[in-house]
Amino acid sequence: MARTAVAFVCQACGSTHSKWSGRCDDCGAWNTLAEEQAAPPAGTSARSRGKGRPFALEGLAHITAEPQRRVTSVAEFDRVTGGGLVPGSALLLGGDPGVGKSTLMLQALAAYASKGKSAVYISGEEALAQVRLRAARMGLSTSPVQLGAATSVEDILATVAMAQPPDILAIDSIQTLWTSSLDAAPGTIAQVRTATQDLVRFAKSSGTAVILVGHVTKDGQIAGPRVVEHLVDAVLYFEGERGHQFRILRAVKNRFGATDEIGVFEMTGAGLNEVANPSALFLGDRSGLAPGAAVFAGIEGTRPLLMEIQALVAPSAYGSPRRAVVGWDSGRLAMILAVLDARAGLGISGQDVYLNVAGGLKVSEPAADLAAAAALISSFTGRPLPKDCVVFGEIALSGDIRPAAQTEARLKEAAKLGFTSALLPAGSKTADARALSLSPIADVKALAETLVG
Ligand code: TYD
Ligand code: MG
Repeated sequence: MARTAVAFVCQACGSTHSKWSGRCDDCGAWNTLAEEQAAPPAGTSARSRGKGRPFALEGLAHITAEPQRRVTSVAEFDRVTGGGLVPGSALLLGGDPGVGKSTLMLQALAAYASKGKSAVYISGEEALAQVRLRAARMGLSTSPVQLGAATSVEDILATVAMAQPPDILAIDSIQTLWTSSLDAAPGTIAQVRTATQDLVRFAKSSGTAVILVGHVTKDGQIAGPRVVEHLVDAVLYFEGERGHQFRILRAVKNRFGATDEIGVFEMTGAGLNEVANPSALFLGDRSGLAPGAAVFAGIEGTRPLLMEIQALVAPSAYGSPRRAVVGWDSGRLAMILAVLDARAGLGISGQDVYLNVAGGLKVSEPAADLAAAAALISSFTGRPLPKDCVVFGEIALSGDIRPAAQTEARLKEAAKLGFTSALLPAGSKTADARALSLSPIADVKALAETLVG
């Protein structure tokens, strides 16, 4: 009898190797190759395959009306999914262990079930008693969510196929699932991929919206398998810094909605609270006029969000100055420092520089450049920025400040929160009647002059 073909699959990138080695040649990760049963090579057994059946092709205009979305009533979650879960879709919810994925799932399902709809929560990690205890702590015990503890994909599919398929089925987590059709251990790429495929097929055929919870590995991928991300319709990440109670739900892929939307939650002793006005939360109580802090008027998704950017510039004790960045891109910081030195002649580069986005937020918008530059100059010169001033704008390598998108929304949010002035790019398009006094900045030299006075 022929030996079953085996392959060594990297658990980090999913590439297949014919023999084991300590390091994956494709992604360079160490100790990630695991033995799995190889898939039959494509195109080898043409004779054993059946003949294909032709099917009718259709035009775009035949699409039926958009199916009604399943709105959970956890508004921040619904916003990130693009206005509720689409029937027959599969969604992956990823995040670090302990960030609150199970809590969010339970809360969303409980809210949905309380409206008289059917929601099933399958836990592969926790015993039912633990899930109930958590629900009791969150005051959700009376919600008619149907619970199950299972890890076998066949069992789960058999269970949900018994009755009317549920509206929403959540599996916590995809890494604990296994199917008896494979020899590999639970959590390996082959198992995770097969389980996901089975559940996605179930979603498409039954109309159930399936949510898969997945843990993120150290380097920020969902269970290693990027292979899962393309199987599902939407990928959401739940993030949060340790030591901060804020949690941010972010869509990185969504076939049914925008991907730049975020949902903000606060972890409390009784579950997650939705934060409808995150700006107020992230700014906290700003009372002092410390140098090195600037309020950035940012946009996250469709929502304006104000956040504080803090900088510390200090004389360097060593030959090569230290740089440390939290919540921002370190390459971007290096660029801003270089532009400040080259175009405004500040001479910061030789100093130690620390930059922090308060509240554990991560900023990726280029419009944060000007706020970071303002914070840096303020710390360097020891002069605080005006307390009631917001800053935004992108800095070009030439030192020019480029206008940012959605100027109006940023200014409106700032005015709403009691700010009275703004440093913004020269040439920004604003309506004339404004509650804020605006200082247009043309380039970094002008910025330094404005701040130093
Ligand atoms: P959990 O949802 O189990 O995380 P995950 O499923 O992503 O691994 O949440 C774990 C953390 O959340 C845990 O450290 C305790 C905290 N937590 C609270 O602070 N309050 C609560 O009401 C709950 C349920 C959890
Ligand atoms: Mg969990």
